[in-house]
Amino acid sequence: MPAPEEPATGPEGLIDRRISRKTVLKAAAVLGTAPLLIGGGVALARDRVGTGEAPGLTPACHDDDDPTIEQTEGPYFKPNSPLRTSLVTANTPGTRLTVSGYVFGRACLPIANALLDFWQADVNGAYDNVGFTFRGHQFTNAQGAFTLSTIVPGLYPGRTRHIHVKVQAPGRPVLTTQLYFPGEPRNSTDTIYDARLLMNVRQVGSAKEGTYDFVLNVPQTPTTPPTSPSPTTPTTPPTTPPTTPPGGSWAAGTLYNAGDRVTYAGASYRCLQAHTAITGWEPPNVPALWQRV
Ligand SMILES: [Fe+2]
Repeated sequence: MPAPEEPATGPEGLIDRRISRKTVLKAAAVLGTAPLLIGGGVALARDRVGTGEAPGLTPACHDDDDPTIEQTEGPYFKPNSPLRTSLVTANTPGTRLTVSGYVFGRACLPIANALLDFWQADVNGAYDNVGFTFRGHQFTNAQGAFTLSTIVPGLYPGRTRHIHVKVQAPGRPVLTTQLYFPGEPRNSTDTIYDARLLMNVRQVGSAKEGTYDFVLNVPQTPTTPPTSPSPTTPTTPPTTPPTTPPGGSWAAGTLYNAGDRVTYAGASYRCLQAHTAITGWEPPNVPALWQRV
């Protein structure tokens, strides 16, 4: 039985539990204004692949975005993982999960050939410390994109559900961090958990699809977006106005501030962190955002 990871205290344990209002608002703004996928997910840069649009125009990254935060690597990292994008075989037990996204620099430009080294627990919450099961590294493609095929990791004592990852742009320092799942009851009790590392996860049939874009602290020179053939065409989709004001019944698209109160399914909740609500973040699903009162 694996031991719980210790809350970060060492040099790699740079945990900042504060949720920057700016960060949340920016992330939320993306969620609130980006073109929505079928199923209500966030339109990430990958959705533009093949459309002729420049990846740099993705609404999932802004040129003043804070870099992805660092977290402890925990006790189960092993170097020299295999080069592979799939950690499963046809017989691997567990709910299939695809994690995909982009790696960006500070100017929101995608980073090609960035290293991503993933490791996680199996369906029973155990790490393979002998072999390399559920361990693998890969590199972003020319568009800065990555895709990992795996399973939803199991829980183990002391932690909420998470995936470990190290991300490194060519010739740059390694970022060690973790990715989290929305709606997990333990998110509210895990001292390492940080809402800034929440994936956007949606159900697709019997599988789940998670998305997350990393922003590395890599200087970049912003480039001018390619000239559009229709320069007068708005590039920002219209914002869907909230259907109810803050403090009333919960509604996706609404900006809530800490302390706001809403009702949902007949229950009252108090907002713990400023955010713009999205489908999937209904109060009962996100105890990090809403406390029942
Ligand atoms: Fe872990």
